[in-house]
Amino acid sequence: MKYQSMADFTEYSNSITAESLGSNAFRERYASKYAYVVGAMYKGISSKELVVASGKSGILSFFGTGGISIEKIAESVEYIQERLEQGQPYGMNLLNNIERPELEMQVVNTFLEYRVRNVEAAAYMQITAPLVKYRVSGLRRNSEGNVEAVNQVMAKVSRPEVAEVFMRPPPKSIIEELLKSGQINEAEALMSREIPVAHDICVESDSGGHTDQGNAYVLVPAIRSLSIEVMNQQSYSKKLCIGAAGGIGTPEAAAAAFILGADFVLTGSINQCTVEAATSDEVKNILQNLDIQDTGYSPAGDMFEIGAKMQVVKRGTFFPARANKLYELYLQHDSIDELDSKMIQKIQNKYFKRSIEEVWSETKSYYKKSIPHKLEEIENNPKKKMASIFRWYFVHSTRLAMKGVRDQVVDYQIHCGPALGAFNRWVKGTELEDWRNREVAQIGKLIMHETASFLEERVSMLGYKPV
Ligand SMILES: Cc1cc2nc3c(=O)[nH]c(=O)nc-3n(C[C@H](O)[C@H](O)[C@H](O)COP(=O)(O)O)c2cc1C
Repeated sequence: MKYQSMADFTEYSNSITAESLGSNAFRERYASKYAYVVGAMYKGISSKELVVASGKSGILSFFGTGGISIEKIAESVEYIQERLEQGQPYGMNLLNNIERPELEMQVVNTFLEYRVRNVEAAAYMQITAPLVKYRVSGLRRNSEGNVEAVNQVMAKVSRPEVAEVFMRPPPKSIIEELLKSGQINEAEALMSREIPVAHDICVESDSGGHTDQGNAYVLVPAIRSLSIEVMNQQSYSKKLCIGAAGGIGTPEAAAAAFILGADFVLTGSINQCTVEAATSDEVKNILQNLDIQDTGYSPAGDMFEIGAKMQVVKRGTFFPARANKLYELYLQHDSIDELDSKMIQKIQNKYFKRSIEEVWSETKSYYKKSIPHKLEEIENNPKKKMASIFRWYFVHSTRLAMKGVRDQVVDYQIHCGPALGAFNRWVKGTELEDWRNREVAQIGKLIMHETASFLEERVSMLGYKPV
């Protein structure tokens, strides 16, 4: 079959409803009632409770595995599986770990052990062996002769070239490596040629947390047409779905994403300010009052040296300014010993509230315990040592926010994008103004129902009359 456009896959209905928006293929793949997804938030902020609550409402959400131990991840999977019934959707976040690839494999092995069927893969610039192992494990051929995957990957990307590697079958070299080491079998290796690494590609435009500051108007159409091209070349038996994330906090924004061609939408920032999000009340109080212009950019602590960026709250906190200053110092100097005493005093007294020696000693213990082979390299490289000291501040500022340490609000690191400011404006004057009344699933449903009404209204205003 030759695909002309995504419309070939679209099922038409007479009126637009919350349940009909987006793609059927997506909803079926994830047993989801809506083409609406709640994205992962690190350190379990998208908590096990959040995942269970949305799963019970037929909404797919992903548990935030970033920065938490394998034991905790396994406990959370057990918690979720015990509470959700068969067929209620849920998934886990799978993060690329460049610094510790063995951890990424441990996470995948845990998912496979517990039969976690859906992952949201993020932070990938290229395809890795753990990701392929997850995808390829359990491949089978159905009665029609088509290859079926039991493990679904929804890949979050912000660049077309990364989107494309996810749309293609897994790289041969990785398949050979996994086969050789006995991690997949012959049959799985052979069948892997007939499926994409991910059937679902979520295009992430400017968002809360890590961001390439992309623009949905540019990215979604480009990646959507790329998916049509790839489907024609590869003759997959199932549709590649394209999603949109970043900046979605109102029905109008979700409607724009569907009009751009999205098969599903994904939200992040708005879900952190809900009863189920596992962060402090102090953070939620700040979030509830945010406006659109109250977020800004800072370096990302986990990718500090390569200059990756994230979007955070800037109102009422010095975190982005301080984090940007640390990055500037890192670029300008080769060693912390090059900083003048005034700057050292400022960092110690205002940013860290402890001496550089104390921070270094804490950092050293972390490396000794977790990544001992990196410690020598860091100790012998003054620039790397400076980076690891500065990176401590990112870990510290997240802890302050999540614990809600009241006298250090100015150092809170809170990932968030302007979608929340837009949401706050939308619900102003309603009972949802107070975060204590905000539940993730209720928000998701509300957005989808209002998006359907909004689109109906817009379509009739544009002169469309159903035949
Ligand atoms: C507090 C917070 C933490 C996040 N942590 C993660 C994460 O650990 N893994 C991930 O894939 N995405 C993470 N994200 C991104 C979201 O899953 C989602 O893709 C993004 O927030 C969507 O854009 P929006 O914030 O404009 O809605 C995080 C976002 C926020 C707001």
